[in-house]
Amino acid sequence: MRVAAVHGPNLNLLGRREPDVYGHHTLADVDAALTETARGLEAEVESFQSNHEGELVDFIQQAAARVDGFVVNAGAYTHTSIALRDALAAVARPYVEVHISNVFARERFRHRSYLAGNAVGVVSGFGVNSYRLGLRAIVEHLRAGEDGERVR
Ligand code: DQA
Repeated sequence: MRVAAVHGPNLNLLGRREPDVYGHHTLADVDAALTETARGLEAEVESFQSNHEGELVDFIQQAAARVDGFVVNAGAYTHTSIALRDALAAVARPYVEVHISNVFARERFRHRSYLAGNAVGVVSGFGVNSYRLGLRAIVEHLRAGEDGERVR
């Protein structure tokens, strides 16, 4: 089982960017945490970050051929991007939306997500652990039977 983690704009600045909101972990720390979590789940993970909407669309289209699902932190594009929503719908791979911060405890414009409606679920507010939880959630979802029961 293979999952792609998609990191949107400004997440390359993690560790230096508004540390009171996003903490001190870098994107490399996030990717290391994902790799370690994936190993424990006997899954594989790859990561991609871009500040450009079209590059994120291209990555989703191309990665879909080799992955079973996605963990997506689209950053601010979460709240604006119909193109990312459409890309994820087009490739028809399940995904979990994740956020480091609790977007629902922040400004109102962060309460709307164009991605959440088609997601398996949303993890928001657990810092770097949001990614670990999101990866675990998508892997368990993918391993679940069609009737929702866990396949062990
Ligand atoms: C974020 C929340 C978004 O509102 C914001 O634009 C980000 C990061 C998060 O991980 O908490 O860039 O997705």
